Amino acid sequence: MSAKQVTKIGVLTSGGDAPGMNAAIRAVARTGIYHGLEVYGVMRGYSGMIDDDIFRMESRSVANIIQRGGTILKTARSKEFFEYEGRKKAYENLKRRGIDSLVIIGGDGSFRGAQKFSNEFDIPCIGLPGTIDKDIAGSDFTIGFDTAVNTAVEAIDKVRDTADAHDRLFIVEVMGRDAGYIALHSGIATGAENILIPETKTDIDELVSSLSEKEKRKKLVNLVVVAEGDEFGGGNEIASIIRERLPHLDTRVCILGHIQRGGSPTCLDRLIASRMGYHAVECLLNGKHNVMVGILNNKLHYTPLNSAVKAKQKISDDWLKIVKILAS
Ligand code: F6P
Repeated sequence: MSAKQVTKIGVLTSGGDAPGMNAAIRAVARTGIYHGLEVYGVMRGYSGMIDDDIFRMESRSVANIIQRGGTILKTARSKEFFEYEGRKKAYENLKRRGIDSLVIIGGDGSFRGAQKFSNEFDIPCIGLPGTIDKDIAGSDFTIGFDTAVNTAVEAIDKVRDTADAHDRLFIVEVMGRDAGYIALHSGIATGAENILIPETKTDIDELVSSLSEKEKRKKLVNLVVVAEGDEFGGGNEIASIIRERLPHLDTRVCILGHIQRGGSPTCLDRLIASRMGYHAVECLLNGKHNVMVGILNNKLHYTPLNSAVKAKQKISDDWLKIVKILAS
């Protein structure tokens, strides 16, 4: 842990945007200014550091943004930052401006970049978990998940109405390239018949036979929620298998896509973003450097940036059993 004094903080958002990022930016800016620090907004993630697209933030720079989705700082996945030359250029821009610390709001890839940067150039960094996928170890929450899952629930409820009206089977694909949390939570909350996620093996025979058995006993509404990263490759692929094996079913696919990333953040996302943003600045001031600020069991939890990785959490068998029993 370094005791380096910080006076000028840069804040940036990196990777996929997530609702609540603005609330986190606001918290970082206002807490920093409260403590008499200078706060700088870096545009488009690490790209803005490399291109020197950086501006001084005042308290009013973050007015009227807590309720807005997206990120006022914009975001990007910078390939140049993977290279030492790119990071050096970024450092030189920070140095010229006197920016001596960073808060990075993003996912595990962004944190790995931050750790590397900090090791090379001695710039203390703090990570805040910002991703709709909720796939970061060391925090029960990630900024954006709650909003995304509620967006999915609202949309799936609407799909259910039309599925019911036409006696159709709907395969709804939700986001989650490597993680099934959006599928699991939204599927349970909307009473899906089945939920297919990357973390578990999909037993396609079992799925087909359970749909066929339900059809025989005239259970009409069928809703299957699939994460885009399911082993079969998402909604269209699952639908084509079902159409082949159960051709008499009227099967439709609905891919929710990027609507899950947008929209006004929920109260929970605003709260956790505000709490994490505030503590990011406190960490920098107290010499707690190069950690990700998370929340576990309603307590702050600090994970060293170099071990803040994609959560490979086992999805509880309990949940999967509940899904099956409740959908019977
Ligand atoms: O932010 C995470 C995520 O939404 C994944 O669930 C999804 O696979 C990916 O981002 C999509 O990224 P992009 O918008 O760059 O295609």
